[in-house]
Amino acid sequence: MRRRLAAGNWKMHGARADLAEIDALMAAHPHPTVDLLICPPATLLHAAVERAAQHPLQIGAQDCHAAPSGAHTGDISAPMLADAGASAVILGHSERRADHAETSEAVCAKASAAQAAGLTAIICLGENLEEREAQATLDVIAEQLSASVPDTGNANNTVIAYEPCWAIGTGLTARPEQIGEVHDFIRAQLAARFGAGIAEGIRLLYGGSVKPANAAGIFAVPNVDGALVGGASLRAADFSPIITAL
Ligand code: G3H
Repeated sequence: MRRRLAAGNWKMHGARADLAEIDALMAAHPHPTVDLLICPPATLLHAAVERAAQHPLQIGAQDCHAAPSGAHTGDISAPMLADAGASAVILGHSERRADHAETSEAVCAKASAAQAAGLTAIICLGENLEEREAQATLDVIAEQLSASVPDTGNANNTVIAYEPCWAIGTGLTARPEQIGEVHDFIRAQLAARFGAGIAEGIRLLYGGSVKPANAAGIFAVPNVDGALVGGASLRAADFSPIITAL
């Protein structure tokens, strides 16, 4: 049985004062029945880990380098994230694929590094609007999944997040049948590659304008094991009802 996961991606938002949202969130969910994860910007990792220590809340990061250390100015390695207290890292987010030209092969190398450092790799996949309109969604997902997930993937070290690019930050949400089609497909692809046992344990998150008003409908879709939430994770008042819906 997969334990559900509500993951918040703060993206490039947040100053120290915003960590009060963690306290507010956990006051509303002192004994959550789902796993909770917040991924703040790297500047807040240490302080967020300190806050989370008193709560059933994990802290994650938003990217890592594929190498454990080296002359890579501005980058952060997976062992460094683990040392800071992170338990997971988001990889291959469409914003990084677009803004930093990250390929699926680069994402795979980062995911391997994350897993080797003891982190859970939250690997993001998703088609853009042009690809969906060309009915290429499942082809895009198959290619990204195959090339981005390392052979070492398993239920403990890998989470897959399906995030249609056209639904991120736009207020547009994929319809339940669209989400279900892709999540069923991802589960089947994982089973074909890793075997049914491992595939059944890997959690599949949906991301893209998840809000309090649409969360319950999304979470009712089979093979949706939680959400990767952007904007609505920034304030406890928005994230809390999403967690309750899960
Ligand atoms: O990582 C989160 C996703 O990009 C979704 O962001 O909830 O603001 O649409 P959003």
